[in-house]
Amino acid sequence: MAYKANPHRYSSGMKYRTCGNSGIKLPIISLGFWHNFGSVDNFETATDMVKFAFDNGITHFDLANNYGPIPGSAETNFGRIFKKDFVAHRDEMIITTKAGHLMWDGLYGDGGSRKYLMSSLDQSLNRMQLDYVDIFYSHRFDPFTPIEETLQALVDIVKQGKALYIGISKYPAKETIFAYKFLKEQNVPCLIHQDRYSMFARDIEEKILPIAGEHGVGFVAFSPLAQGLLTNRYLHGIPAGSRAARPEGFLQADQVTQYKIEKAMKLNELAENRGQTLAEMALAWALRDQRMTSLIIGASSVAQLADNLKAIENLDFSEDELKQIDNILRRKEVTYNGNQ
Ligand SMILES: NC(=O)c1ccc[n+]([C@@H]2O[C@H](COP(=O)([O-])OP(=O)(O)OC[C@H]3O[C@@H](n4cnc5c(N)ncnc54)[C@H](OP(=O)(O)O)[C@@H]3O)[C@@H](O)[C@H]2O)c1
Repeated sequence: MAYKANPHRYSSGMKYRTCGNSGIKLPIISLGFWHNFGSVDNFETATDMVKFAFDNGITHFDLANNYGPIPGSAETNFGRIFKKDFVAHRDEMIITTKAGHLMWDGLYGDGGSRKYLMSSLDQSLNRMQLDYVDIFYSHRFDPFTPIEETLQALVDIVKQGKALYIGISKYPAKETIFAYKFLKEQNVPCLIHQDRYSMFARDIEEKILPIAGEHGVGFVAFSPLAQGLLTNRYLHGIPAGSRAARPEGFLQADQVTQYKIEKAMKLNELAENRGQTLAEMALAWALRDQRMTSLIIGASSVAQLADNLKAIENLDFSEDELKQIDNILRRKEVTYNGNQ
């Protein structure tokens, strides 16, 4: 049966924040395609998740050239879903892709060179069956390419009309400031900065988020659920089919440490007192700073997506709750062979 988008999608509860100093609003929860959309995954589930997301006000879909596995297959699958059901909604969608990590053999399929970024974006557009992406990212800072070369390629990509905006991901503080200034001087300001952020990964609080805020650049956090560690997924072991159990999953079983699970258990108790699941509370917490434009979540089912969207119903924290969370996160354990 042909897909008909929910006519109430923009009044279904989703909230939107403006991306830095731009005119672009993003949903506070966005959908990422790193896992669960590749050639090894169930295409029907992937399709259902995209439809459910869009029906609930998610307009922002985060991809990269290498998402799969196999690398490229998440873009190919997105292209199939888009072509079948979303062509009529193209102008309601922010579709992103990236290049920066290893994508193909030889000398030009990795890093930050102009050669790589330009040819990779052409390949991505082909796979996704799109004429342009809304945001193209330099996926990571490449110390072996002059930063000016990478940034000029981003500027030229926008001038060619292949991307409307550009972003950077995982850039260190010094290079971030250089990039923001360079891009502004070229009249192609950086729209958005993407980096890891969750209760278990707070590095950006110190430098990167304030720098983005000062320069009027929006911020999106990836892995806000720490790949599932900040949900009820691993509270009682590693279940079959979970990311940590799957051979292609980026989360390794040895990263599911007793130390983290103990913290997750304590956080879970606090979440229950708030009437939330741990995932809902972890997302609400990551959104407490207004400079955080959006969180890019992953999901392997519509049920997980539905749970995560419920976070929006309670985004407020009392001072006491925030203190309790900090205390849980700060606690150091020395009993687990130092493996945190
Ligand atoms: N710029 C970069 O370098 C970069 C790097 C990494 C990611 N990203 C982007 O960020 C996106 C999100 O990353 P992520 O997938 O690591 O995010 P995440 O939201 O931290 O983790 C998603 C995983 O958590 C589990 N999960 C989600 N909701 C759940 C719920 N309600 N209950 C129980 N378990 C739940 C699922 O694991 P199971 O699969 O086990 O069910 C899901 O696959 C990526 O898709 C990508 O677009 C960007």
